[in-house]
Amino acid sequence: MEKIIEENKQGESLVLEQKDGNSKKLFIESYGCQMNFSDSEIVASILANEGYNTTQNLEEADLVLVNTCSIRDKAEQTVRKRLDQYNAIKKINPGMKVGVLGCMAERLKSKFLEEEKIVDMVVGPDAYKDLPNLLKEVEEGRDAINVILSKEETYGDIAPVRLNSNGVTAFVSITRGCDNMCTFCVVPFTRGRERSRDPQSITEEIAALWERGFKEVTLLGQNVDSYLWYGGGLKKDFEKASEMQKATAVDFAQLLDMVATQFPKMRFRFSTSNPQDMHLEVIEVMAKHHNICKYIHLPVQSGSTRVLEAMNRQHTREEYMELVNNIYRIIPEISLSQDMIAGFPTETEEDHQDTLSLMEHCKYDFGFMFAYSERPGTLAARKLEDDIPAEVKNRRLTEIINLQQKMAFERTQRFVGQTVEVLIEKESKRSNEHWSGRNSQNTTVVFPKEGNYKPGDFVNVKISNCTSATLIGDAVGYSDMN
Ligand code: SAH
Ligand code: F3S
Repeated sequence: MEKIIEENKQGESLVLEQKDGNSKKLFIESYGCQMNFSDSEIVASILANEGYNTTQNLEEADLVLVNTCSIRDKAEQTVRKRLDQYNAIKKINPGMKVGVLGCMAERLKSKFLEEEKIVDMVVGPDAYKDLPNLLKEVEEGRDAINVILSKEETYGDIAPVRLNSNGVTAFVSITRGCDNMCTFCVVPFTRGRERSRDPQSITEEIAALWERGFKEVTLLGQNVDSYLWYGGGLKKDFEKASEMQKATAVDFAQLLDMVATQFPKMRFRFSTSNPQDMHLEVIEVMAKHHNICKYIHLPVQSGSTRVLEAMNRQHTREEYMELVNNIYRIIPEISLSQDMIAGFPTETEEDHQDTLSLMEHCKYDFGFMFAYSERPGTLAARKLEDDIPAEVKNRRLTEIINLQQKMAFERTQRFVGQTVEVLIEKESKRSNEHWSGRNSQNTTVVFPKEGNYKPGDFVNVKISNCTSATLIGDAVGYSDMN
């Protein structure tokens, strides 16, 4: 159901091409958001230079790394269970070393080494370049930890290797960290302050993907619309930049315009957009370029201005709805998706009704919906009692999900009878006689394999039918994007 945290990918282990001469075996698996999956590719790439090839067989691993998520309590519990399983294997293979990476490592720091006896190494999201040193410590029998957050690190100089991908779509990270301080959210604590990556290293990475046949890139960040490159450094320090730096700075609308112009036969997506940082310039650039997909993930969390304020979301219900109205005015065919939290502290029945009515107004194609989970250290945890009973949270969540499903079906149906451009990604999961891909609006499209079409081709598909989330049709020819 979730896209940001793709359930079917949780715990997926990563296998990369084997480097000759490497004798040690690395098992690396990832939980949480797409950024974690991208970071694991960076980690595997760093360790390939340290003598490690990846394996999918946990039993034979010399080093086991788990890239963790702290966003909700459930995410942390999943990782703890996984650590128990590693422990069982460590009993058979005592030489195996275990390292915890990512947000839980950053949140729990050395507590991890104390609480979880099997953990040998704890590495936060900005410290992966220190892995070779940390591994030396571990090999010499000491526990190793680096959870220092950085002002500059964007891993722009490390080429991630992506072999278990479909070879057609890839993620390229453009910002790290988040400065927004939403009161419920642990990310600013675990991933540090916001910084942007050098546009040149972004375009170089995209060019390398293009060379290898990739056709779609999703620009990735906790808050992509806030992207701002002025020569490096934290977003919050931009005010202190020189006049020259300010005059030559690149913002998100410019970056998007740049990549869409430079790679006209490649399709672009981006995630995640924050309502308060999403400006009309970005929408205008989207409208200008056919190769920027007409889909925006625009989390809102609540439809009540009072709750939005308590969440420190920096916009009201009305401002969000005005943004959405403007988006539909400029790009009528756009699809939108939301993140929503049910049962934030103090949420009343009236606030909840405001959420439902905002959803009806915005007509989201997709949604990612959660019950509020108190996270230690956040402002909400410190200042507000988690006062909505679990049954109430869950009932409200169910109402939100039911409304979203009803809307999603209506939104999907709008494509029936239309011809849509689809980038073929892979064989359909349900049938090896069908191709599967997505249209510009991010809806999955399946159609029978006819002609010579193959993954990586842009094809026009006439839609004849749909389920609540999938369009079904027939290919009618190549599109102009090829
Ligand atoms: N800007 C980020 C947001 C990451 S968190 C991004 O790139 O998507 C993803 C979603 O998890 C949030 O939008 C929010 O809906 C949900 N979430 C975050 N903290 C939460 C909490 N404490 N309880 C429940 N849901 C939460
Ligand atoms: Fe979290 Fe809000 Fe940033 S949800 S990642 S603090 S935009």
